[in-house]
Amino acid sequence: MGPLRMEVTLLCCVVVVLGALPFSSDAQLDPSFYRNTCPSVHSIVREVIRNVSKSDPRMLASLIRLHFHDCFVQGCDASILLNNTDTIVSEQEALPNINSIRGLDVVNQIKTAVENACPGVVSCADILTLAAEISSVLAQGPDWKVPLGRKDSLTANRTLANQNLPAPFFNLTLLKAAFAVQGLNTTDLVALSGAHTFGRAQCSTFVNRLYNFSNTGNPDPTLNTTYLQTLRAVCPNGGGGTNLTNFDPTTPDKFDKNYYSNLQVHKGLLQSDQELFSTIGADTIDIVNRFSSNQTLFFESFKAAMIKMGNIGVLTGSQGEIRKQCNFVNGNSAGLATLATKESSEDGLVSSI
Ligand code: HEM
Ligand SMILES: *[C@@H]1O[C@H](CO)[C@@H](O)[C@H](O)[C@H]1NC(C)=O
Ligand SMILES: *[C@@H]1O[C@H](CO)[C@@H](O)[C@H](O)[C@H]1NC(C)=O
Ligand SMILES: *[C@@H]1O[C@H](CO)[C@@H](O)[C@H](O)[C@H]1NC(C)=O
Ligand SMILES: *[C@@H]1O[C@H](CO)[C@@H](O)[C@H](O)[C@H]1NC(C)=O
Ligand SMILES: *[C@@H]1O[C@H](CO)[C@@H](O)[C@H](O)[C@H]1NC(C)=O
Ligand SMILES: *[C@@H]1O[C@H](CO)[C@@H](O)[C@H](O)[C@H]1NC(C)=O
Ligand SMILES: *[C@@H]1O[C@H](CO)[C@@H](O)[C@H](O)[C@H]1NC(C)=O
Ligand SMILES: *[C@@H]1O[C@H](CO)[C@@H](O)[C@H](O)[C@H]1NC(C)=O
Ligand SMILES: *[C@@H]1O[C@H](CO)[C@@H](O)[C@H](O)[C@H]1NC(C)=O
Repeated sequence: MGPLRMEVTLLCCVVVVLGALPFSSDAQLDPSFYRNTCPSVHSIVREVIRNVSKSDPRMLASLIRLHFHDCFVQGCDASILLNNTDTIVSEQEALPNINSIRGLDVVNQIKTAVENACPGVVSCADILTLAAEISSVLAQGPDWKVPLGRKDSLTANRTLANQNLPAPFFNLTLLKAAFAVQGLNTTDLVALSGAHTFGRAQCSTFVNRLYNFSNTGNPDPTLNTTYLQTLRAVCPNGGGGTNLTNFDPTTPDKFDKNYYSNLQVHKGLLQSDQELFSTIGADTIDIVNRFSSNQTLFFESFKAAMIKMGNIGVLTGSQGEIRKQCNFVNGNSAGLATLATKESSEDGLVSSI
């Protein structure tokens, strides 16, 4: 192999490695990003969410989940908000999202209010991130300074949504792997799973644990037998699977450390929840125990992990765009894709400004 060939090969390796990294180590985000261009953005987002949550307290949980499902699929770029068009295959129909994600209408409500105050300035990706923090605070969870300055994607990827979003029947090995792909470690996994301290799940996501777990003919042995009876009453064998139950039977709408004390008494709702405590010899058991006995420690870890998750694969500077309408790439706001918009979105990274 000649020296030139070697150099080219090495260069290719560097490009491949950097190109494959799903997260940005130098994200260039800044909590004061909108200080001059939209100083009221935080309070505007807060007011809309506060209003909605008065009649729909579950929305706080739904909005945090929306941010998570955005970030795990080509980064926190609002790709989850893009609707189907001629050129977009929406992530909203991916298996973990379909008939499950909520809050798309609320995000549009927020976007409208923000556009009225500061037109063309705040990205939909930043709105999702702010909404997650504000939802935590409104549910009495931790607050943190949200790094801002994300741009919105020109693409979505349903295949990647199906591939990257963890499933409720994942064992600990698969959960760790799904988070590691995103640059999130075991502590982040346990801390972020603590978001299951509020919100609801449909029977279909855990019914396999109640009657015939792994085709054993018996329920999941790691499920508390009193809790099992409660869950069976809500989710009949062979039922429709759309009934809802609280993630946290103790404080259903409050963001607190009870998720972890529930795991200790084998009342994790999803298999993926209980795995963190019931996997023999796992390094996650000690983390669960520590979060369960120290809410300050849980909140500190949750904040750090949320900021880390919010940095995944962000578009900044001249990358991406500020969408006018969160459900569509600019120039395509009626959802009527033309050849012209298709071409401009293909080289949009260069030509968007
Ligand atoms: C660790 C892997 C995870 C798995 C397997 C998982 C799975 C699920 C499932 C199956 C549901 C119920 C969906 C439905 O019934 O329609 C759900 C709900 C929820 N998830 Fe996760 N999740 C995980 C991690 C996370 C993370 C990291 C967050 C946020 C930081 C999060 C926040 C939520 C919230 C708040 C809800 C309730 C949403 C609502 O009530 O609308 N989850 N999750
Ligand atoms: C919140 O609701 C109140 C009363 O319904 C309304 O006056 C106000 O405009 C709403 N604010 C936002 C930001 O939606
Ligand atoms: C986008 O798609 C969702 C369903 O995924 C639908 O509820 C919503 O009305 C669509 N939004 C627009 C602006 O067409
Ligand atoms: C979506 O992601 C998959 C898996 O990484 C990749 O193979 C594919 O090229 C992507 N599709 C689009 C349209 O970006
Ligand atoms: C976790 O699940 C995967 C896929 O089903 C399986 O290959 C692996 O052996 C399981 N790991 C453990 C520790 O059970
Ligand atoms: C995980 O990452 C956090 C920083 O986000 C760090 O404080 C912690 O030590 C790491 N934990 C492990 C087990 O590597
Ligand atoms: C559990 O599922 C397996 C595989 O589908 C089936 O053969 C078995 O009869 C089921 N057992 C019970 C008790 O339903
Ligand atoms: C929903 O739950 C109720 C009990 O709370 C049960 O009677 C009903 O059959 C369930 N429906 C479905 C579709 O599972
Ligand atoms: C099941 O839950 C009850 C409280 O409802 C608790 O006292 C008991 O210890 C739990 N059982 C197991 C095995 O964790
Ligand atoms: C709880 O965790 C916080 C944050 O790490 C720490 O400062 C504090 O000392 C811990 N409290 C106890 C009782 O261990």
